Amino acid sequence: MKKLVIYYSLSGKTRKVAQSMAKQYDADIVAIKEKKRRSTISAYLVGCPQAMGHRKTAIEPLGVNLDEYDEIIIGAPIWAGFPAPAFNSTVAQLPPGKKVSLFFTMGGKSSTKCEAVTKQAVTNKGCTIGGYQSIQC
Ligand SMILES: Cc1cc2nc3c(=O)[nH]c(=O)nc-3n(C[C@H](O)[C@H](O)[C@H](O)COP(=O)(O)O)c2cc1C
Repeated sequence: MKKLVIYYSLSGKTRKVAQSMAKQYDADIVAIKEKKRRSTISAYLVGCPQAMGHRKTAIEPLGVNLDEYDEIIIGAPIWAGFPAPAFNSTVAQLPPGKKVSLFFTMGGKSSTKCEAVTKQAVTNKGCTIGGYQSIQC
């Protein structure tokens, strides 16, 4: 079983979780990078409305062949109740038929709305959900 952890992190918390998961699962790891550098102010002013609208943002090429993996684990921080928009850009690139697990880091409590929306986005790509984790950081 070849596993890949893909994560987006603005301030490093999701990166730490992703790194420890990759170690635990002996998985490859890749960071999602937005094409336009994101400041914290822009995360609140622009990123939050994007997250709430489940919109995508321009990201750099992932640099990995997703087809090569049996399981893809995607992690992102929660902004305004939903994943940071780079998550949506990554889900859009998923090849159909993959097992996909999700984890989200957040300051508060998880929301059932976020879980439903993100699982739906993954299944809409023809992938199956391997797991879902909310991690309070
Ligand atoms: C713009 C912004 C919006 C956030 N909105 C929420 C939120 O709605 N709910 C929550 O629990 N935490 C929220 N947080 C906290 C982050 O989800 C949390 O600190 C996360 O672990 C940060 O991950 P990172 O360090 O990988 O960027 C927000 C943080 C930022 C910067």
